[in-house]
Amino acid sequence: MSAPRVLVVPGGVPCRGVVRTPGEKSISHRAVLLGALADGTSIVHGLSDGADVGASLAAVEAMGAGVDRPGDGTVVLHGGRGRLHPADGPLDCGNSGTSMRLLAGLVAGFGWETELVGDESLSGRPMDRVAEPLGLMGATVHGRGERCLPPLHVRGGALHGIDWTSRVASAQVKSAILLAGLSASGTTVVREAVTTRTHTEEMLAEAGADITVEPWGEGRIVSVRASSLQPVERTVPGDPSASAFFVVAGCVVPGSAVDVEGVYSGPARLGYVPVLQRMGADVTLVPGQPGTATIRATASPMRATEVRASEIPSLDEIPVLAVAAAVAQGTTVFSDVGELRVKEVDRLAAVADMVAAFGAFATIEGDTLAITGVGGPLRGGRFDSQGDHRMAMAAAVAGLAAGPGERSLVTGFGAVETSYRGFADDLRRLTGVDSPRPLLVAIDGPAGAGKSTVSTAVAERLGIDRLDTGAMYRAVAALALERGVRPDDAAAVAALAAGSVIEVGERVAIDGMDVTAVIRSPEVGQAVSVVAANPEVRHHLVRRQQAWAAAHGGGVVEGRDIGSVVFPQAQVKVYLTASPEERARRRNDEAPGGVARRDRIDSTRDASPLREAEDAHRLDTTGRTVQDVVEEVLSWL
Ligand code: C5P
Repeated sequence: MSAPRVLVVPGGVPCRGVVRTPGEKSISHRAVLLGALADGTSIVHGLSDGADVGASLAAVEAMGAGVDRPGDGTVVLHGGRGRLHPADGPLDCGNSGTSMRLLAGLVAGFGWETELVGDESLSGRPMDRVAEPLGLMGATVHGRGERCLPPLHVRGGALHGIDWTSRVASAQVKSAILLAGLSASGTTVVREAVTTRTHTEEMLAEAGADITVEPWGEGRIVSVRASSLQPVERTVPGDPSASAFFVVAGCVVPGSAVDVEGVYSGPARLGYVPVLQRMGADVTLVPGQPGTATIRATASPMRATEVRASEIPSLDEIPVLAVAAAVAQGTTVFSDVGELRVKEVDRLAAVADMVAAFGAFATIEGDTLAITGVGGPLRGGRFDSQGDHRMAMAAAVAGLAAGPGERSLVTGFGAVETSYRGFADDLRRLTGVDSPRPLLVAIDGPAGAGKSTVSTAVAERLGIDRLDTGAMYRAVAALALERGVRPDDAAAVAALAAGSVIEVGERVAIDGMDVTAVIRSPEVGQAVSVVAANPEVRHHLVRRQQAWAAAHGGGVVEGRDIGSVVFPQAQVKVYLTASPEERARRRNDEAPGGVARRDRIDSTRDASPLREAEDAHRLDTTGRTVQDVVEEVLSWL
C-alpha cells in the first residue's frame, strides 16, 4: 500500500483512540546495522518504516543479511559476520546521511571494497568527517574532492584502534568509528566534548560488545574493543517528532482524546509538549517502559504563546505547532527559527503559506514567525507539500482542525513516505468513518467523449497516477484474439482474464506481451465490447482496478463503470459526453459505425452497463478546449 498522493480531509472530525508512531529513526538505523552484525536472529518490533531506514535495511540485505517481515511491523534479521559478503553493486543510501556514515564504519571492517551512493542531495554532503578517522584506523576511503563527497568507496580490512577526539559534535561520526572499532585490533576510543545521542554505545553494550563509557568534562569517552555481537529482541520506541502530529490533532479538534503510546522520551526530544501546555492544551506525559512515555491529549481551547527555537532544537515540530497557533486565540511568536529555511524545502515560507491557506494569518520578519490564530476552527484549505513530509502531515492536521462540513485537499501527500508511510492509515483509524482518504477521481463516459485526454491532464495537474481501465479490457480482448479464443466464448475468455498479468502504464502488456499498439486496432475495437460484457471478466478486472488504486495512493481512473461500480466512494465523479458526430470524428480510426456499435453494447449489457452515476458531474466536451474542461473538473475538488 502506498501513502495517498492527494489526501482529502474532512474538517471537524474528532480523533479518538490510541496510536503508536513508527520507530524512532536513529534507533531504527542502529537496530538494523547491529542486527546484520550479530550472530543469529535479531527481532525488531516497530522499526521505522520510512525510506531512510529502508535504505539501511536494503543495504544490509544486499550484503547477505536475511530480512523477514512476518507482519505487524516486525522485522527479523538473520545476521553474522560469516554471512556477510560484498554486495553485487553499490549500496544506495538514498537521501539518508545516517545510512551512509554508519554503513561506512560498518563496511570498514570488511576485507573488500564497498561503494556507497546517494541521491542528488546526499551526493552534496561531505563525508570527510568519517573518512578521516576510518582512514587512520587502516581503511581506504575515497570520495569526490577535498570534502570527500559521495559516491564513497571504502576498502576495509585489518583495522587498528585509534584515540579520536571529535572536532564536531556528531553522533553519526562517533557511531561510524565505534562500528569500525568492533573489528579493530586494540582499543578504539572516541572522546566527545559534548555528549551526542548515545544510542550506539547503549545498543552495543546491550548486544554484549566490550564497551565502556566514562564522563569527560561535559561529554564522554567511549572505548570499544573487538567484539562479536549477540542478537537482541527489541521494540523501537515511537518517533517523538511524529507523535506531535497526533498530539496537536488531539488538542485542537473539538471532541478529541488521543493517546500516543510508547514514544521515545530521551533528552530534548519532547520540547513541543511544554509549548502546548503553555497554550492551555490538556496534554500529559505518562511514563511507560524505560525511556518512553504515553502522551495523552484532549481537546481544549488554546491561546497564543512565545516559542524559542532552543525549546525545539531540531525545529521538526514547528510546522504542526503552527497549526496549533493557527487555531489559538492571539498571536504566537516563534523566534530564531530562520534555520527552517534550509530544511527539505523553505519550511519558513511553507508554514506561513499553510497557515494562510487554512484561514489564519502569518508574518515573517527576519528569523521570527508570528501566527495570529482564528481562536477556533479553521477554514477548509488546499495546500501542496512541495515534497516535504512534515508539511504534508501538518496540513492534514490543519484540515481536521477546520470546521465541520469543510473539506481540505493536501496535494503532494506522498511525501510522508520519507518518514511515516502509514500516517493516513493511522489518522483514519483515529477518526473513523468520515476520515481522511486518498483522492479518487472517476471519469466515465462513452467512446470519444475525451476521457483519456481529460484524465491524463487532470492526473498531471494533481500529481497523481491515471488508470485507463479500457486498456485493460482491450488487453484481454487482444490476448483472446492472439490465442484464437472467440470473444463470445465466455468461459474461455474469463479464464484468460483470471489467469493473466496485465500491466497498464505508458506501455500496455498482458502476460509479458506488449500490446500497446495492437489494442488500438479495429479487430480489438470490434471484440472488446463483447469481452467487456462478460460478468466474470469484469469481476476480475474490477478487483485489479481497486488494488491499483490502493497501491498508487488514489488516482484518476477512467472507464465506463468507475463512479458507479469500481469506486462509488470517489470524491469527484465526472461523466463526459460529446455529440455523436464529434465522438465519431475523434475516433475516426475505428471502423465506420464502430463507435455507435460499441456504445450500444456498452450501455445495454447486463453487467454494469455504461451509466451516469447519480452524483456525477455531467460535462459535454463538444467544442470545448482541453484546458477549459480540466479547469472545470478541478473546480469540483
Ligand atoms: O475506453 P475505451 O474506449 O478504450 O474502452 C474500450 C471498451 O472497454 C469499451 O467500449 C467498453 O466496452 C469496455 N470498458 C468497460 N468498462 C470500463 C472501461 C472500458 O466496459 N471501465
